[in-house]
Amino acid sequence: MRRLGRIAGAFSLLAMMGAGAAEAPQGAVAERRAGEHRAGEIMRDLRLDVLAGRDVVPLAEKAQLVADWAGRLPALFPPGGDQGETNALPAVWSDRAGFAAKARALDEQARLLVAAARAGDRAAFAAAYLSTAGACAGCHLFFRQH
Ligand code: HEC
Repeated sequence: MRRLGRIAGAFSLLAMMGAGAAEAPQGAVAERRAGEHRAGEIMRDLRLDVLAGRDVVPLAEKAQLVADWAGRLPALFPPGGDQGETNALPAVWSDRAGFAAKARALDEQARLLVAAARAGDRAAFAAAYLSTAGACAGCHLFFRQH
């Protein structure tokens, strides 16, 4: 994955050199939006699973995807990533520490979600789901335009 990231980085550098500086940040916007979109789909699916009272053990993998993504979040908003069409507020770049703290909060909650799934604990999973969703909203409130 790390190598893939480097290759992608090399391509965006090429795009930047060949097609003007505006290309690379646009790529960053598309990449992070795809990730956010996927996180939204996963959270919607998990919500239906919680509401239906399904066994939570098979949900560990999806919860893990959210946790892994949370760890990568700050890197998806690189310097210069505020250019182009984006709903990210300027605070993402002016308050890096605050933004990283919100990403860490999501990471922590998503890990609790993974743990609850692995333990097969439906009540703990439902509680962790709510705090995970709260961590999404906790960042959007301050760092995303509505
Ligand atoms: C650390 C901050 C942060 C966290 C945590 C976060 N987001 Fe976001 N999210 C953003 C920002 C900033 C944008 C705007 C991105 C842009 O338009 O460039 C965004 C955009 C989105 C979008 C719109 C994507 C699009 O296509 O425009 C969705 C859906 C979304 N987030 C879902 C989630 C979900 C679900 C979670 C939790 C699992 C989450 N986000 C956690 C900061 C965050």
